Amino acid sequence: MPEMSPLQALMDSRRSIRRYLPRPVEKDKIRSCLEAARIAPSAENAQTWRFLVIDDPEIKDRFARAAFSGIYGATRFAAQAPVLVLMMSKLDFLANRLGQSVQGIPFHLLDMGIAGEHFVLRAEELGLGTCWIGWFAVRAARRFFRIPRSYKILSLMSVGYPASRPPGARVRKPLDEIAWYNGFKEEKTPIPEPIEACE
Ligand SMILES: Cc1cc2nc3c(=O)[nH]c(=O)nc-3n(C[C@H](O)[C@H](O)[C@H](O)COP(=O)(O)O)c2cc1C
Repeated sequence: MPEMSPLQALMDSRRSIRRYLPRPVEKDKIRSCLEAARIAPSAENAQTWRFLVIDDPEIKDRFARAAFSGIYGATRFAAQAPVLVLMMSKLDFLANRLGQSVQGIPFHLLDMGIAGEHFVLRAEELGLGTCWIGWFAVRAARRFFRIPRSYKILSLMSVGYPASRPPGARVRKPLDEIAWYNGFKEEKTPIPEPIEACE
């Protein structure tokens, strides 16, 4: 195996953080995470990702009340994070609308995932903890910031200094269950049908 690099060590130690210290996050650290996201690759270099940083405590509290209400109460932990980032895509005609209809692949989702993980790894490097959040009231988030429908709301990210890390070891499938060389191997357990829509 190649030697453990700083990048590998960072990926190895990263966990989703759901408990945060009340300590504010420096604005230049968030900017640095955004810069890391900005240099990510994207289909057709369309750079469809958009990031709405919510770091004003009063606005964040009001937003969190709207986004984590009702069935989304399970995500209320994120309201304790000093920063929330709303992650969106502004779809590009060539890469996204055409890509989706001809290729059948929503490239903007791949792009957001890559850029978001650039953000996450840079945050980790800066001593910050993050958690991707898919379980929140998307419509309420849209209404709160009056975001036009041409922007797809895809995720939230909570960011802050970790108060604790998840207990126990990371749970992951063994490599031979998820990666094959030079041939397809049918899985023993059936895979559920893909979920199509995000919104
Ligand atoms: C797209 C996406 C959405 C997620 N949504 C949530 C969420 O709504 N609430 C939550 O607590 N964790 C959420 N997570 C975090 C996952 O639960 C977590 O990454 C997974 O359990 C693996 O744990 P680890 O990140 O600590 O390695 C999400 C992760 C991703 C990538």
